[in-house]
Amino acid sequence: MKRTTYAGLVDEKYLGQTVTLTGWVQKRRDFGDLIFVDLRDREGIVQLTFNATHPAALAVAETMRNEFVIGVTGTVINRDASQINHKIQSGKIEIDVTEAEILGTSKTPPFYIEDGVNANEELKLQYRYLDLRRPEMQKNLRIRSKIMSSAMKFMDENDFINIETPILAKSTPEGARDYLVPSRIFPGSFYALPQSPQLFKQLLMGAGFDRYFQIARAFRDEDLRGDRQPEFTQMDLETSFMSADEIRALVNAWVKTMMHDVVGFELDTTKIQTLTWQEAMARFGTDKPDLRISYELKDLSAVVADSDFGVFANAVKAGGVVKAIAVPGGAAHYSRKDIDKLAQYIERFGAKGLAWLKVTADGVSGPIAKFFPEAEAILAATGAQDGDLLLFGAGRADVVAATLDYLRRQTAQDLHLIDETNPWAFAWIVDWPLFEYSEEFDRWIAAHHPFTMPNEADLHYLDEGEDPHQAHAQSYDLVLNGYELGSGSIRIHRMDVQEKMLKALGFTPEAAHEAFGFLLEGMEYGFPPMGGIALGLDRLAMLLAGQDNIREVIAFPKNSRATEPMTEAPTRVDGKQLNDLGLFVPDAD
Ligand code: AMO
Ligand code: AMP
Repeated sequence: MKRTTYAGLVDEKYLGQTVTLTGWVQKRRDFGDLIFVDLRDREGIVQLTFNATHPAALAVAETMRNEFVIGVTGTVINRDASQINHKIQSGKIEIDVTEAEILGTSKTPPFYIEDGVNANEELKLQYRYLDLRRPEMQKNLRIRSKIMSSAMKFMDENDFINIETPILAKSTPEGARDYLVPSRIFPGSFYALPQSPQLFKQLLMGAGFDRYFQIARAFRDEDLRGDRQPEFTQMDLETSFMSADEIRALVNAWVKTMMHDVVGFELDTTKIQTLTWQEAMARFGTDKPDLRISYELKDLSAVVADSDFGVFANAVKAGGVVKAIAVPGGAAHYSRKDIDKLAQYIERFGAKGLAWLKVTADGVSGPIAKFFPEAEAILAATGAQDGDLLLFGAGRADVVAATLDYLRRQTAQDLHLIDETNPWAFAWIVDWPLFEYSEEFDRWIAAHHPFTMPNEADLHYLDEGEDPHQAHAQSYDLVLNGYELGSGSIRIHRMDVQEKMLKALGFTPEAAHEAFGFLLEGMEYGFPPMGGIALGLDRLAMLLAGQDNIREVIAFPKNSRATEPMTEAPTRVDGKQLNDLGLFVPDAD
């Protein structure tokens, strides 16, 4: 049987024609002399009817079960008016089957294969090939594929050269923990899977390619979240002789093309806002603000510094801040119990409590209202209206920022305050600090990576006797709907600057040369000014597919414990393999 078209594409245009279709049995309804089967393939579903006019086909239909693979030939006819299904392309027709064949049988699947089915996530990952049969998963992976094709085409048209970089690479102390691969030939030595092609793409600029592009796998052994996988894909580019402004303009043009190609959305790139990091942190408490939410953080430190409410006055006295958001319509929506729940949640950010006020027609109400008999100043500073809920953060600036960022996103979700008329809120965040303090490592680390060029005017901060942590960087992040979509920068291309930067990060000259000697040496042989960016393909595909976990756009993802339930990777290996690699593992078989 040779298929003539996809099941999901058969519609009224085919009326009267004979078609041959192949696919999976979604559902079978048996009325004895009449059997209906929903046939599913990658394009959708079509209804098959088997009846006594074609007894051989009917007999085959009797043996069909869910997820059997079948082939059928039949005539496209109109459905009964009562049977019309407007939700699917083939909803007005059905196939009057004359011939049928079973091409593959199936055990009863461990879960019913349908969108929205409430099956255990781990089970779905264990039988991923079954879960991937769902229309939604098929759609998600096609969106991902379209993004890749669109990117490849755009880059080719803009004279970028596709170059692959090694997967077996060198371990360099850049950011996250490495995945290591032991060398058989040099026992005790390891390759590292690349955390990104960063150093190679800089070397390619040194090699004169001028414009590099790669859809590259990257590997990071870090804590996983909804938008983080241990292996993920970057759309990675690097250019020589371009300014940060020019690179952002190029990325805008690229994103515009991609949005058109993939979801048919005409993005007005002139409306993409550019915020400094400082401004983003002040207004939204985060470096990846969701600009679809209208309310912002307002600084009340000056307004409440002398108030009788100890929590606020003391926070300011201790060098902290007091900030608030005014949640529109929040007063009626949240009960005291709801607010207590929010207060409990934000403890994870270090918040010591959650002060709140409900705004009424003639002032404010709530347990702390007594401290603010004259609420005008607070209302003026926050722009709060009758019916709003004011939520306060008081204390260390970073704790207040993280707390109110969370509360802003959460309340907007609870109250449906995300502006759907602005479905794709892109933003550029620029002028980042060059360094950030890492609580985890208890030292200063590069905010982006160690090869990021400081602002020209800030270069002197790297000199002896100055405070390098004052410096800001020529780096930029592309944000979409509250997610960090991409990150890039102008790079350091001079060895003297790079050495100072590594020194500020705590590298001795010897350690710097051990880790990055090949790059530092390269810089002595005429490296051009350069810059680039990498966009997270998984995150973009997730957002364009309307999903909230990148697992949904990755064919075979890892679960939250970084294992792959279908193959059960990582697994133990046998003693011979370990011996060959010169590895000793306690308790190994
Ligand atoms: P960065 O580390 O910011 O930059 O990574 C670039 C983009 O990759 C995505 N991303 C991830 N996606 C899924 N899972 C992860 N674990 C993960 N980590 C990062 C994000 C992020 O914005 N070499 C630089 C880029 C450059 O400077 O050109 C880099 O790797 O969307
Ligand atoms: P207390 O005086 O400690 O009982 O707190 C009075 C109110 O202020 C309660 O609603 C607390 O949740 C809230 N609160 C306490 N500490 C903070 C803080 N650091 N930031 C915001 N609200 C707080």
